[in-house]
Amino acid sequence: MLAKRVQYFSESVIREMTRLAHQYGALNLGQGMPDFDTPLEIREAACKAIMDGYNQYAITWGAPVLRNAIADKMRSFNGIECDPEVNITVCCGATECMMATMLALVDPGDEVIVFQPFYENYGPDALLSGAKPVWVTLHPPTWSFDPEELRRAFSPRTKAIIINTPNNPTGKIFTLAELEYISLLCQEFNAFAIADEIYEYIRHTDAPHISIATLPGMAERTITISGLSKTFSITGWRLGYCIAPAEISNGIRKAHDFLTVGAPHPLQIAGAAALRLPMSYYDNLREGYRRRREMFLPYLRDAGFEFVAPDGAYYVMTDITPFGATDDTEFVKRLIREVGVSGVPGSSFYHPKELGKTKVRFMFAKRDDTLKQAGERLMRVREKCGPLAPRADSV
Ligand SMILES: Cc1ncc(COP(=O)(O)O)c(C=O)c1O
Repeated sequence: MLAKRVQYFSESVIREMTRLAHQYGALNLGQGMPDFDTPLEIREAACKAIMDGYNQYAITWGAPVLRNAIADKMRSFNGIECDPEVNITVCCGATECMMATMLALVDPGDEVIVFQPFYENYGPDALLSGAKPVWVTLHPPTWSFDPEELRRAFSPRTKAIIINTPNNPTGKIFTLAELEYISLLCQEFNAFAIADEIYEYIRHTDAPHISIATLPGMAERTITISGLSKTFSITGWRLGYCIAPAEISNGIRKAHDFLTVGAPHPLQIAGAAALRLPMSYYDNLREGYRRRREMFLPYLRDAGFEFVAPDGAYYVMTDITPFGATDDTEFVKRLIREVGVSGVPGSSFYHPKELGKTKVRFMFAKRDDTLKQAGERLMRVREKCGPLAPRADSV
């Protein structure tokens, strides 16, 4: 009955694990959303915008006050010059930005290079737009790509490459040298870079955030995507934006118009206020995540997981072979049921899925007490999920 385009992919594993976590009362370190609240002034700005009457459609590509705030932020933080009238489209989250960008750029049969482990949505985004994804693996401990493998992935059929830095799920921050190499390949093969920079403010080391659009020759072939979900802990508001050269921007705006018409108007007004918060807000955000990382990772290590400490974003990709585990999904189901903590099976970040069979991702955008409690529960992993543990009933 269903069209082929939705038969190619199954229900999001992350959402399935979230449902199980609810069912068993597990602490959810799976899905990427904070359990702490949005700053008061941002919430108040949203209430005020509704009371002030911003309750009808905004201009399709975004309320002017928000696009102006984005243009200022792109200039001061990312080093990207853009005209809010031409280059910026506000969408319903970075999620819609990616879909609208793919629909605007890609013809059926075009190839799109995707690094793996990848953020879950990129595969379906490529398939829905008719693109053929070409996977290139990032290898621990630096989660770097093999330059030769990346070069081989490029061809005259390559339309674009997706770069997510800081990266979900690995926490990798792409280095300048890596971005330069990618930019040279994009220019050699006349391909676009689609840069998902949604975690740009969440960095735990002194590594700078580099937007590939700022590298020589890249402004005219890069679509930079970001959003407010992660920076302001408002994943439910659905505010994202893309910055693109004029012609591409025009295509993105058309796709966006027919996908959703526009992002919620009052929240756009409040989003503009959020983007105008002082630098101290961003410093506190980063400090808060550094603290959570410092608090949570030692628990994981003591519990027996192996991992490379993430440099950015709020995830850690762990290796579960020390527990004798060979089936990530079975391991996470046990974790939910027997230990009371949820994560995401590694296979949902790889193609083919087997590549992630011994990995599990945890996220740490949680209140201190949630992380502490989860950490203490994880001390039971070896006993409950180790090789000698009794098999859990299937959940
Ligand atoms: C890499 C990446 N891009 C995009 C998104 C989605 O962002 P938004 O809430 O703006 O749609 C996420 C959310 O987890 C993400 O990890």
